[in-house]
Amino acid sequence: MTTIAPSLLSANFLELGKELERFDSIQDLWLHLDIMDGHFVPNLTFGETVLKDVHKFSKHPLDAHLMVKNPEDYIDIYHKIGVHNFTFHWEATHHHDRLIQRAKELYKSVGVSLNPATDVRVIPDYILKKIDLVLIMSVNPGFGGQKFIDGVFEKISYLKNFKEVHKLDFHIQVDGGVNAENAVKLIDAGATNLVAGSFIFKAKDNNYKSKIDELRK
Ligand code: DX5
Ligand code: ZN
Repeated sequence: MTTIAPSLLSANFLELGKELERFDSIQDLWLHLDIMDGHFVPNLTFGETVLKDVHKFSKHPLDAHLMVKNPEDYIDIYHKIGVHNFTFHWEATHHHDRLIQRAKELYKSVGVSLNPATDVRVIPDYILKKIDLVLIMSVNPGFGGQKFIDGVFEKISYLKNFKEVHKLDFHIQVDGGVNAENAVKLIDAGATNLVAGSFIFKAKDNNYKSKIDELRK
C-alpha cells in the first residue's frame, strides 16, 4: 500500500490535538512536518516544541521535512524528539556525505529532497544506495496549496529505474499539489509515498480518511 503523509501545514493549529486524532485509525500513514526557517524558504513554521507534542500525541511515524539552511544543526534535536524520517534539502548544505553519515547513525530513515529546478542526477549513485528516501518537490517549497509541477515525472522514472537496476527499495516521495487525479499517475510512475496537505484537509466534515482513500485508489 502507498504510504500517505498528510502535511500538518494545512491543519487547523488551534485544534491540533483533534486534528491528529482524526488520523489515529488510519493505516500506513506518516505525519509530514514542514519545518521552515524563513531563510532557505520565505516562510516560517514550527520546530522542536510542536514536534515534541505531536510525537506524544500520535502513534504515526513523524516525517520531518527540513526546509532550513544548515540542516546538520538539527540532526540531534529531532532525533531526541523521536522523529522517524529525517529529510533535508540537497540545496541547503555543502556537506551531504557528512550529514548523511551522522543521520544514518541516529534515524531509522534518512531522506534527501530536491527542489523542482534541481536535477535528480546531482545525487551520486553511491548516496542513492545508502539513503532511505528521495523527496521530489512538485512545488517550490515554502507554502501549501500551490499548483503541481509536471516536471517531476521524469525524475520519478529515473529513480524507479535506478532502484530496479540496483535492487534497492528506497521510498520515492512526492510533495506539493498532490491530489486524487495526479496520485494515480504518480503511483504508476513509481512514487511510493505521497505527501498531501490541502487535498486532505479540505475534506468535508473533517473526513480525512475519505481523501486518503481517494489518493490510494
Ligand atoms: C511545501 C511543503 C508541502 C506542503 C504541501 O513546502 O513541503 O509539504 O504542505 O501542501 P499541498 O499538498 O497543499 O501542496
Ligand atoms: Zn513538505
